[in-house]
Amino acid sequence: MLQGLSQPQKAVPARWFYDMRGSQLFEAITQVPEYYPTRTEAALLQAHSAAVAERVGAEATVVEFGSGSSIKTRTLLRAMPRATYVPIDICGEFLDEACAALQGLFPALRIVPVEANFMNPVNLPLPPVHGDEARPMLGFFPGSTIGNLTPVAAVDLLRSMRETLGEGAHLLIGMDRAKDPARLVAAYDDASGVTALFNLNLLQRINRELGGSIPVGEFRHLARWNPEAGRIEMHLEARRAIRFEVDGRPFRMEGGETIHTENCHKYLPGEMRVLLAAGGWRETEHWTDPQGDFSLILARADIEQEA
Ligand code: AVJ
Repeated sequence: MLQGLSQPQKAVPARWFYDMRGSQLFEAITQVPEYYPTRTEAALLQAHSAAVAERVGAEATVVEFGSGSSIKTRTLLRAMPRATYVPIDICGEFLDEACAALQGLFPALRIVPVEANFMNPVNLPLPPVHGDEARPMLGFFPGSTIGNLTPVAAVDLLRSMRETLGEGAHLLIGMDRAKDPARLVAAYDDASGVTALFNLNLLQRINRELGGSIPVGEFRHLARWNPEAGRIEMHLEARRAIRFEVDGRPFRMEGGETIHTENCHKYLPGEMRVLLAAGGWRETEHWTDPQGDFSLILARADIEQEA
């Protein structure tokens, strides 16, 4: 974090968004009219969860990477009533709330929460074998969260998920598609300003948790399309020259200078297949909505991996 703030282009890793308030603000983003990914993906899950259950098996262990509120997972679990659910999230407080709500809806569901950073391989606290049958494993990574990573880092994560889940596992992943940049910018700079609050909360969190003195009111939210990299970038721009401290260290910024807070890569369907294959996953199903805005992909870890 301090290192990121010391670079020529200041940057903070996107996972810093998700403290309690940040997780709540993200849930609010999913409700704004401009932010189409969540509702589009929800409709895809409604339409295709039964097909997923049929292909994977209704007794699978569903491992969700970055489970947040687990709202989307309800649709999937309704189609897999005998599943075990392993939500992995970095925010333990939010995780406990989400699990309690889910258990209320599915009293018989076995829930095994794991508080962890899913960017690294995770040791699942579960016997992979049940009786003498290996349980089918289904990774679940919705929301186009993979788009936060550069393609190289995305491939690393896909490999690490493969390591967590094991050979033969399935992966159900949501990925946002490349489209008209104007629609993309609107989705990340909504008229009601919720995304701006989400972005600015990062600075408040640094002030709260790292004893920072960042003048939050001197920053404005920016969302811009980077055509070379094929991604939306979020930044926080200093309105004028400022100085502040974080963790006892001094920082200064010029007016117009930014802190880069998030990348959201957008892919074409063929690029998604290439990315998955590089991570050791073979696409077995690819669903999209009538407008072709979003992809829900089922993949399998059965490609030979070189060491
Ligand atoms: C949670 C990473 C999928 O990239 O669309 C939404 C986060 N940031 N609006 C996304 C986000 C700003 C979101 N993901």
